[in-house]
Amino acid sequence: MKTYNMILTVCLMATNLLIPAAKAQTMHVQHKGDTAIVSIESPTRYLLLPVQEEKQQAQVLLDTGHDTDTWMDVRLARNGVDYYVPFALGEGNTATVKILGLAKDALALNLLKLSDTFNTANTDYYRPSYHFTPAYGWMNDPNGMVYKDGEYHLYYQYNPYGSKWGNMHWGHAVSRDLIHWQHLDPAIARDTLGHIFSGSSVVDIHNTAGYGKNAIIALYTSASDKNGQIQCMAYSTDNGRTFTKYESNPVLTPFDGLRAFRDPKVFWYEKGKCWYMIVSADKETRFYKSKNLKKWEYVSAFGNGMGQQPCQYECPDFFQLPVNGDPNNMKWVMIMNINPGCLFGGSATEYFVGDFDGKNFTCADAHEAKWMDYGKDHYATVTFSNTGNRVLAMTWMSNWQYADLTPFKQNRGANGLPRELKLFELDNKYYIQEGVAPEVMALRKETKELGNLTIEKEKDFAGIASGMNGAFEIEADVTADANGIAGIEIYNNKQERTLVYIDMKNRRIVTDRTESGLTDFGKYSEPHHIEKKWDKQRKEQSLLPARMVNAINYKNNFALATWAPLNLCGKDKKTFHVDIFVDKSSIELFVDGGRIAMTNLVFPIAPYENVKFYSQTGKSEFQNVKVHKLAL
Ligand code: FRU
Repeated sequence: MKTYNMILTVCLMATNLLIPAAKAQTMHVQHKGDTAIVSIESPTRYLLLPVQEEKQQAQVLLDTGHDTDTWMDVRLARNGVDYYVPFALGEGNTATVKILGLAKDALALNLLKLSDTFNTANTDYYRPSYHFTPAYGWMNDPNGMVYKDGEYHLYYQYNPYGSKWGNMHWGHAVSRDLIHWQHLDPAIARDTLGHIFSGSSVVDIHNTAGYGKNAIIALYTSASDKNGQIQCMAYSTDNGRTFTKYESNPVLTPFDGLRAFRDPKVFWYEKGKCWYMIVSADKETRFYKSKNLKKWEYVSAFGNGMGQQPCQYECPDFFQLPVNGDPNNMKWVMIMNINPGCLFGGSATEYFVGDFDGKNFTCADAHEAKWMDYGKDHYATVTFSNTGNRVLAMTWMSNWQYADLTPFKQNRGANGLPRELKLFELDNKYYIQEGVAPEVMALRKETKELGNLTIEKEKDFAGIASGMNGAFEIEADVTADANGIAGIEIYNNKQERTLVYIDMKNRRIVTDRTESGLTDFGKYSEPHHIEKKWDKQRKEQSLLPARMVNAINYKNNFALATWAPLNLCGKDKKTFHVDIFVDKSSIELFVDGGRIAMTNLVFPIAPYENVKFYSQTGKSEFQNVKVHKLAL
């Protein structure tokens, strides 16, 4: 390796250099103006590109001579290497890679490697044990999810060339049980029209688009500075493995030149016997309809001034759910993901429940903000299509405030556990119950039953479960004193802990991660102006537990507690079923089957191994306590 580098260094001084790579391959780097041209004979599958994360992006292109060749942005190494990413070299006998925006003496040009393989064995300490993450690279929104022929297709916003946002592709994985995922090649790649932003897919059962019965049709946003945000279509006739982009893209552009116009969600509307698409259009969601998925007609808009609206909507979704499981009482639900300025800062998922008559969506309590999850790391939540009566959702477990700062290198971004959505009625209003999908229970490998624990005294604790190695689930029926606090402490031997507690005085359930482990990456200097406005309002309304106010005062977006109103479980409810999933870097809480969901990332420097149950004020009861070890 050393010799190889030396040869490179020496050769770089000349304008033309011939570098022996693997057996039959040669790699030759020359500079023309500000472009480095890498010519490869008998190319291997990949050129491995060294990345240095905090550096500026350079541009890299596989030059095949076609006008579809697309520049990719890569943070190529200047004077240090964080990790490598593979850059596919195509099928030809030779390959030419052009690099722009990189100084001639940048380390990257010295360290390019030819290889037929790329090692994806985990090197990240915080990589979850049982949550989905890409094999490498960056992931944000789950999108385009569809179920077909026994397979769940998870597509997602993906950067294959680094672990920060960029080069949006649709990454792809499939699963038969929503838990075990097989990584596949990206399904839709960034192209000359732009980044491939979020969108949705459907199974074209009636062959309305003309690509065959049961083709998978994807609608997504192409985003670029030049073209803005426009909706495009692609189809797959090989069960979602590969997609062909529609030759007459885009299929929809904004009629008023809006810049924020994205994330199309398509669904079949049986009553109208046609497709509908909803698209985020800044602070509203627009409805369109179509017979063939190609020609779209504007129908109506919803959302302006509704709910809590600090900023533009993103990743909308729209589906039907029965109220309290009654198929004769169906309601329409609109999900809108919003960033920034949400409940605990940054991004979160809001929703509206109402009726749809084929033209307008109406919602009686549209001015109330309803949150699908009360944690800080639950975003871009959307559902699978083609799942019959089940509504299954996936969520991105991060927050745009610090998403690209979390302590990862090889890959950054994980999904929350798959959730099954239901609707319940409370005081003549409708709410989403976001429970964990029952498939997840197959992760339970070993159960410790701790029975019933009564803690009589203040600040006492009981029932320690230990040796859980960072991947476990805790279940209990929890009752606190009338004005008391009953808590569960999840901790390691480094004095780091996350607290989940019921606070009956304020009728709240809280997850406090201020002492959970690494938090410094959440520090900020100057908050976004939208956050400032909402922080002020949140403080004035005393909506926050002390720790949240502290987070604002201490200027750290991560070190905080998040909370939810227990009244979502019923006004007089005293005992709550608490179900907590702990993984290497996350804690997901579900109360009463998902009437409250709360998803938060945590980064303990040693895995959480232990759980204890405590009472802070008065007597607390924890009944039917179980701790399950979880494994894939
Ligand atoms: C939401 C989002 C979407 C967009 C995508 C880009 O997180 O901003 O609106 O399509 O991410 O990656």
